[in-house]
Amino acid sequence: MKKINMIGMALGVIIVASCTKKNVNSPGFEYMPDMYRSPGPEYYNAILVDGDTVWGAMTPPANTIARGYKPYPYPNSAEGYELAGQNLSNPIPYSEEVLKEGEELYTKYCVHCHGSSGQGDGKVAVKLPGPPPPYTSANIMNLPDGKMFHSITYGKGLMGAHNFLSVNERWKLVHYIRKLQGKNSTDTTKTAVTDSTSLNSKK
Ligand code: HEC
Repeated sequence: MKKINMIGMALGVIIVASCTKKNVNSPGFEYMPDMYRSPGPEYYNAILVDGDTVWGAMTPPANTIARGYKPYPYPNSAEGYELAGQNLSNPIPYSEEVLKEGEELYTKYCVHCHGSSGQGDGKVAVKLPGPPPPYTSANIMNLPDGKMFHSITYGKGLMGAHNFLSVNERWKLVHYIRKLQGKNSTDTTKTAVTDSTSLNSKK
């Protein structure tokens, strides 16, 4: 009995001693370290974790595209710009609802440069070395829808690419720009680019 008590006390001392922190920054005993420190593999790479090969992600085979994704056919070049102007037309039928969505997008992504009425007088525009031309300038009034779409997609001059917007969102913006210009565009004679045709865009 006495012996058991002694062992019990000794154990108690060991447990208490093991709980006292010598180093306040030490996390102490980690029961399953992997839970705290998961390996962070680099993507598209084979990584060795504890002797096992782990794939971050597989590199897609060459020339493959994601399902539902069709690359935008016109390159970011003067020639691509001309071709887009010649061949593309707005696939989204004009409606009040589309215009409203266009306005919402414009307010989020464009107004700070182009200004609320498209005069190129947004808060950021005044800081640019060359502010955007007013949408009502002769050049932009006569700009085909396809060129607008192309410029929104790739960016132009000091304007960055907006291909993070879906194809449909970009076309809705074209409708809204036409509204700011005081005209509605629906030239349906050209190829329509629908959401299945995209350039690195979300769906
Ligand atoms: C950083 C400021 C900035 C933002 C943000 C911006 N633009 Fe522009 N935008 C410009 C400038 C500057 C130009 C003139 C580019 C040139 O011709 O060099 C321009 C030109 C344009 C043109 C004429 C393109 C052409 O082919 O001549 C269109 C259309 C246009 N912007 C639409 C948009 C839309 C739609 C958005 C929002 C999704 C947007 N812009 C966001 C600065 C901006």
